[in-house]
Formats: sequence, C-alpha cells, structure tokens
Amino acid sequence: MSTARNPAACHPPDNDTDTNLMSRRILVTSALPYANGALHIGHMLEYIQTDIWVRYQRLAGNQCQWVWADDAHGTPIMLKAEADGIKPEELIARIKAEHERDIAGFLLSPDNFHTTHSDENREMATLVYQRLSDAGYIVKRTIKQLYDREKAMFLPDRYVKGICPNCGAADQYGDNCEVCSATYDATALKDPVSQVSGSVPEQRDSEQHFFALSQFSDMLKEWTASGALQPEVANKLKEWLDSGLQDWDISRNAPYFGFEIPDAPGKYFYVWLDAPIAYMASHKHLCARTGESFEDSWAPGSEVELYHFIGKDITNFHCLFWPAMLEGAGFRKPTGVFCHGFLTIDNLKMSKSRGTSITIETWLKHLQPEYLRYYYASKLAASVVDLNMNFEDFTTRVNADFVGKVVNIASRCAGFISKRFDGQLSSQYTEALLDDYSQFSSAQHIIMQYYEQREFGKAMREIMLLAEHANTYINDQEPWVKIKDEAQQDDVQLICSVGLNYFRVIVTYLSPVLPELAAKTEAFLNTTLSLESLEQPLTDHSINRYKPMMTRIEPAQIDKILEETKASDIVATTAAVSAPSETQLEALKPEISIDDFNKVDLRIAVITDAQPVEGADKLVQLTLDIGMESRNVFAGIKAAYKPEDLIGRRTVMVANLAPRKMRFGLSEGMVLAAGPGGSELFILTPDDGAMPGMRAK
Ligand code: MSP
Ligand code: ZN
Repeated sequence: MSTARNPAACHPPDNDTDTNLMSRRILVTSALPYANGALHIGHMLEYIQTDIWVRYQRLAGNQCQWVWADDAHGTPIMLKAEADGIKPEELIARIKAEHERDIAGFLLSPDNFHTTHSDENREMATLVYQRLSDAGYIVKRTIKQLYDREKAMFLPDRYVKGICPNCGAADQYGDNCEVCSATYDATALKDPVSQVSGSVPEQRDSEQHFFALSQFSDMLKEWTASGALQPEVANKLKEWLDSGLQDWDISRNAPYFGFEIPDAPGKYFYVWLDAPIAYMASHKHLCARTGESFEDSWAPGSEVELYHFIGKDITNFHCLFWPAMLEGAGFRKPTGVFCHGFLTIDNLKMSKSRGTSITIETWLKHLQPEYLRYYYASKLAASVVDLNMNFEDFTTRVNADFVGKVVNIASRCAGFISKRFDGQLSSQYTEALLDDYSQFSSAQHIIMQYYEQREFGKAMREIMLLAEHANTYINDQEPWVKIKDEAQQDDVQLICSVGLNYFRVIVTYLSPVLPELAAKTEAFLNTTLSLESLEQPLTDHSINRYKPMMTRIEPAQIDKILEETKASDIVATTAAVSAPSETQLEALKPEISIDDFNKVDLRIAVITDAQPVEGADKLVQLTLDIGMESRNVFAGIKAAYKPEDLIGRRTVMVANLAPRKMRFGLSEGMVLAAGPGGSELFILTPDDGAMPGMRAK
C-alpha cells in the first residue's frame, strides 16, 4: 500500500502557517499482524484505535505518520506454507494482499504498510544485531532443545506437548502449564510429543545466540517508571524487573523462515527480533519515497515522538526487549507504548468454536466499517481493560447515536434548503444564535484533549451532547410546521442553516472516527472540514443536494455475519485436521491393554459447585458429586467456561487419579474435556439416564 488512503476529510494547515511551526512530529506504529491468517474484528480493535488517534493528530495540525507491516517470519508461517504446498514467499504475498484489502476496507490510513520480509528489514535487523554484537551484548551458549527426528527440526515450545513437570497435568505446551501456571523449559516436560509429527522428540545440544537483556535492567527500571507506560503496565513490569531478567534467545535453527544470521550459517533471527525492527524498516521504506530523513527520527534525543499501539499480550516484547535492543544498538527509545485490552464477545474470548471469530472479509460483506469504528470509539479508553462486544448493545448504540442523533440532523434540514432555498444557507444569524454556535466551536478544546489522551469514549459522549442539543433546537423550532406559513420562510431557512452548521461542527469532531461520513459531508456542504474553519458558521453559502449518508443496522445483517462465521469455522476446523498447526488433532497415544484401561475409574459426576480460584487465572474449583462422595477438583477450564454456568451440569471424571497437591489445595481427580485448550475446551456430557456415581466403561 502506498500512501494514506483517504487522509481526506481533514486537512492539516498549510506548511507556512504559524501553527505549523509549533506542530509536533509524531511517528506511530501498530503491532504487525501475522501473515498466516485473516484479520478479524479483534485485530481491528487495535487498528481502529490507532487510526483514530493518527487522524486526530493530523486534524490537530501535527505531522503524524503511521508505519506498519505484516509479520511474515517464523515457524507457523513456514509450516502453513508447507501444508498448503506453496513457498512461504507465496503465502505471505497472498496474505499481504488480503490484509491490504481489509485495511482499505476499514478506512485505515497507514502511511506505509510493509512486510518484515523485506530488504529494508534485513538491512536493519543485521545492523541492530551487528551493533549489539560489537557492544558485547550478544552471547553464545549451548542449550538443550527438543528435536523432532521425523520432521528434522528443532521444536518451538508451542509445538510440543507433554505432562507438566510441576503439577502433573497432561497435555501442556512446552512453555507453560495452563493448569498451574508454572513456566518451564520444553525439555522439562514429561512424555513430550511433537505436535508437528506426533513422534517423541529427543534432546539435542544446540548453540544459540542470546541478547544480554539482564545488562539493561537499570535502564529498564528507570524507563518503565518514566511515564512512557500506562501505570498498570508499569506496575506489572516492575514485578518482572524486580525478580530479575533472563537473557533472551534470539536465534533459531534451520529450517526456519526468516533472515539467516550473518556470521552463523544455519541460524536465523527469531521472529520477535526482526518484527519490531520492521517498524524502523517500514519507516525507512517510507522515507525513501518522501525524501524525509530516517536517521532524524531514530537518533537518541530525537524530537520526533514515537508511539507504539499494542495488545496486552505482547507487552514484554515492546516494553522490555524492544527498548533494550534500541538502547543497545544506539537508537532512541519509544516516547510511549499504548497498551490495550482484548476484544471479548458477550464477555467471552473470541473463538472459532463459538463462531465469534469474525473476519474483516465477512464483516464487510454485510456491514459498513464505520459502524464498528463508531462502536469501538464509543467504548475505548486509555486503560488496558478488555472491551466487550454485545451485538444488541452494538445495534442500539450505533442506531441511536450515529444514525439517530448525528446523521438525522442533516437529513432533517437538508431537504428544505435544497428544495425551497435553492441550496443556499441563510445569512441572517442573530447574536443569540452566534452565541449558541460558539459553544459548539469551543467544545473543541475538551474533545481534542480526550482524543489526545485516547479517551475516545469520553470524546464521543461530549460530541453526542452537542448532537442532542442540535436535535432539541430543531424539534423546538419545528421547521416542518413553519414551512407551511408564507410569512415564516426566512425563519425556516435560518433554522435549517443553523442545524446544518451544527452538523458541520459535529462531523468535524467525529472525522477521526468516521472519515467516510466526513468526506460525504464535505461533498454535501461544499466545503473542507478543518478545526480552524469552525470558528465561524457557514453563511450565505451554497451547498449540494443531500444524499442519504447512513442507514440503520438491521439485526438480519448481524445474523448473516454470525451464520457465515460459523459456517466458515466448521470448514476451518475440519481443514485443520490435515494442517499441522496448533489446532491440529493430537497424535494417538500408544496402544494399551483392556487391563490398562480398566485401571481407570471413570465416573459420572454432577458439578454441585464451581468457583473461580484467586491467583489462578485459568482454574475453576469444582465440587463434583459422584454418588457416594464428593470431590474437590481444580480444572484448567476458566478460559472456556464461566464458573456459574457449570453448576448443575453432569460430566465424566477420572475418580481414581492420585490426588495432587496444588498451590490452592488438593485436587482429587480430573474432569474429561476435549479440545486444544484455552478457550477451545469442551467438557464431556453424558446422555440422559447416566446418573452421578455410575461407572463409565
Ligand atoms: N506479530 C505479532 C506482533 C508483532 S509486533 C512487532 C502479533 N501478531 S497478532 O496478529 O497476533 O496480533 C497483532 C495485534 O493484534 C496484537 O497487538 C494483538 O494484541 C492484537 N489482537 C489480536 N487479537 C486481539 C483481540 N481479540 N482483541 C484485541 N486485540 C487483539 O502479536
Ligand atoms: Zn502444571
């Protein structure tokens, strides 16, 4: 993608005006989406947030550039390409085109959308590595890693599963346990199984390159507390920093899709090394086009402000590793990192199995992008809390505010002006009306301040108050009654002109959120929207014929989105059987005898109580009634179920599993559940008639 699509609607002041001398220079990034899958409405939460902020900065007259890219490297991309029978280069090119289509479709305005697999990024990653190495921050160390002989590859942590070395839970990934939250090395897993081939991996020695993160401890303690981060993020990181930083393994063995490390044949940069560096590479690529200086922005002490928008899941990479790399390589550090929470749907994580993983492609087939842009804006704040989407709330809010309050102003006033007054706005403004108008233009200060602080929900509420005021004015004046009276024609022209001037102010304030509405309004009002021009209302000005700007959301459109999402997820889940990925079906366990099986005492249980466990995000404490006794079991199913929804359900449990002592108490058995884990986990339910205590065999 070349230049900002539709930077439209709002124009920064001319280069030679005074205001521009004081304008800030700002460089913004969003996290790079992985180039192995479609963008969905969860990603869009971040990208819409970025776009609103960037457009606000441009509206405010600042020089703001947004550089961005696809994240094209790493094992999942290599394996996906292999499963699809194509080269990784082909896969990432296809996905990049899809992402660019979605970016344009959602009216996002990056100045550059590049890829991590680019010449600029190879050059920058090599430079950063070289500088770190020259400064003594790269150390080589031989470590043990799991190796899949069948596949002839070292296994990343997420591609091995086994028994948790800490609590004994089965089926845990090679980096941490979903049941007891312990973190460990993949080599510590008991009975590891490769998720790529299903074979049992072996341990092999392998020399890796580490970045000496621990040497940046003092700098990071200072920087994370400097105000660059949200307070809750800074606090969280303080815990990490206080417990001591480990050096970071930045190399991976072949086969890998990425950049080979210059002085180490067969070793590649780990995807998370070159991904943030691609922020720089994308900027470099942009500078080559605009002729601006790249070095200026990245030198220590640079006047350019640098901000990263990211999700809370990638905080460590951006707030510890990245600033340390920049510092170590002699570049400036970020001015701020803006971390957001996750999108939930009806308070649950988005999930393929629930059919809520809505892609941008599906959304755009049925609904306008601006509906979602407005909804997110109305709910976004500067904090890291999750944002919940509920479709009823979505429909009501968008229909009531965007369509009912804002667009309605124009549609009520436009007809009279074009039909009765030849498209001419009145010049008869009274003192009182001018006074009222000045309240609209002076609301600018607080609204812009909210935008600056990323308190978009608060900005939307201020703007809606103005819209309510405008609607009240029109209601009170009843132009549709006055139009019938010959003597009141001038009045009607004035009332509708006042209404349209209010509309002009409101849409200007909304333009960072609703760029298409802004563009349509510019065409309709025959003017350019800018903050400066709001000081005076448009008077004695000729406007164009009104075309309907936005219609209400129909519930049927949402039903279609959900149906289509469900249908495609069934296909995706079925396809995953043959595709080696995290969603693949697990390899079968070795054969056992009937005697082995008979050792397992499976019982029908009824869940009589289910409670969250303080200090364990993933656990639910279950009380299970198995007829003759009741059992206390800690189950790692919190991401998939709300505890209260489990009470009263019947399921199947392993009743003779040796009790395990956990941090929270004794776990006396295990409930049966299927699925890859996390939110994709389904507890088994017996048919009617199977009563608590019955043995399952
Ligand atoms: N490739 C890395 C980022 C590298 S940045 C140098 C990555 N990619 S991602 O595709 O998984 O996520 C991209 C961004 O989207 C992240 O900031 C992530 O937090 C955000 N989101 C992905 N799913 C999301 C939700 N469901 N809700 C909100 N944000 C989400 O991480
Ligand atoms: Zn565990």
